[in-house]
Amino acid sequence: MTKGKVDALLGIVFGDEGKGKVVDYFTPRYDVVARFAGGPNAGHTIIFEGKKFVLRSIPSGIFDEGKINIIGNGCVIAPDLFMAEARELENAGYQLTERLHISRRAHLILPTHRVLDRAYEAAKGKNKVGTTGKGIGPTYSDKAARVGLRVGDIMENFEAKYQALKARHAQLLSDMGFEYDITEEEKLWLEGVDYMRKFHLTDTEIEINRYLAEGKSVLAEGAQGSLLDIDHGTYPFVSSSSTTSGGVCTGLGIAPNTIGRIFGIFKAYSTRVGSGPFPVELFDETGDTIRHIGNEYGAVTGRNRRCGWVDLVALKYAIMINGVTDLVMMKGDVLDGFSTIKVCTAYTKDGVTTTEMPYDTEGWEAVYEEIPGWNTPLTEMRTYDELPQAFKDYVAYLERELSTPISIVSVGPDRDATIIR
Ligand code: IMP
Repeated sequence: MTKGKVDALLGIVFGDEGKGKVVDYFTPRYDVVARFAGGPNAGHTIIFEGKKFVLRSIPSGIFDEGKINIIGNGCVIAPDLFMAEARELENAGYQLTERLHISRRAHLILPTHRVLDRAYEAAKGKNKVGTTGKGIGPTYSDKAARVGLRVGDIMENFEAKYQALKARHAQLLSDMGFEYDITEEEKLWLEGVDYMRKFHLTDTEIEINRYLAEGKSVLAEGAQGSLLDIDHGTYPFVSSSSTTSGGVCTGLGIAPNTIGRIFGIFKAYSTRVGSGPFPVELFDETGDTIRHIGNEYGAVTGRNRRCGWVDLVALKYAIMINGVTDLVMMKGDVLDGFSTIKVCTAYTKDGVTTTEMPYDTEGWEAVYEEIPGWNTPLTEMRTYDELPQAFKDYVAYLERELSTPISIVSVGPDRDATIIR
């Protein structure tokens, strides 16, 4: 934690790195927790005081009474889903309205954005992105096209603005011949819009900069992962926001020189949900074992996650793009049962081998190096010294290859199975 600075906590692969678990460790150290990109496509599973919550749009600092939580301008927000998420927290006894501030510049996801998401996916057929269906792409498209609705629009002449954008979407959907019915969904959505009015809908960029000037510490909580970034991910199989450290600046309205440390989270192996290139994907029993032991099923959609070995090409690229200062390695224990562990060190295609992320990641195969596994359960271990030498060698190998320290390793689902080095 750095006083007067913004530290970032970012998933640096395809999302689902386990951010939800480590925020438990991170949030108590910060005064403010802010989300800067994405929306309800995220699902951060947090176990707090024995209860399980899946946070989609709300920052993880919400469980800590003293913290300010911010949904920044780079985010998109679905009023109905936000209402459901917020009410669940209110019902569990958390007071939200004073501590959750939402940027007036964040964009609203309309019910028709979700329909458009489905329609565009259907039109793409086998080339579909495999989106979460939450309307993310169409909402960011409208933002870029300068026709979107923002949270600030809720406060003035909202009905007319809503009807105008809805009509625009209806035209697009009719041109595509896509049938839909949003009657029920729309009712709930409008109720959600009303519900949002009780929150601080404000200029969060001014607020955050004021906190920084006062010497407060801010944690920028990432969503998705760097390889789903609209610019640097495996386009077009990406999400539509800036999920990298650059996105922290634009998504919160803070300057690059206010950034302190950048924590890059990855798992001891790799996963991906949805379509798109994934050279390390395992289609065999090993992949099934990792999925089963790692419980690799989507928090938002319930889909099977595709599983594979750790990918140094992807990690090096993500570390470079983000300027990662510290790595956090999650789920080391999932590999407990393997006597040999593979690490992807390069990609190969048509006789060409590269260690740099190719422009078109389609069709590349992984080149592996094998290293000995530890074959010992790690879950009960609480200090770095206790960990088996083979595990420490794996960590040292990754640090050497990635030229970045692994400052935290997680060896089990419990909050105290997080070992700080
Ligand atoms: P969208 O963000 O719903 O448009 O989905 C675009 C791609 O990003 C799809 O492959 C999704 O599976 C993936 N995706 C979006 N959000 C997440 C996330 O939080 N974790 C992992 N994958 C995600």
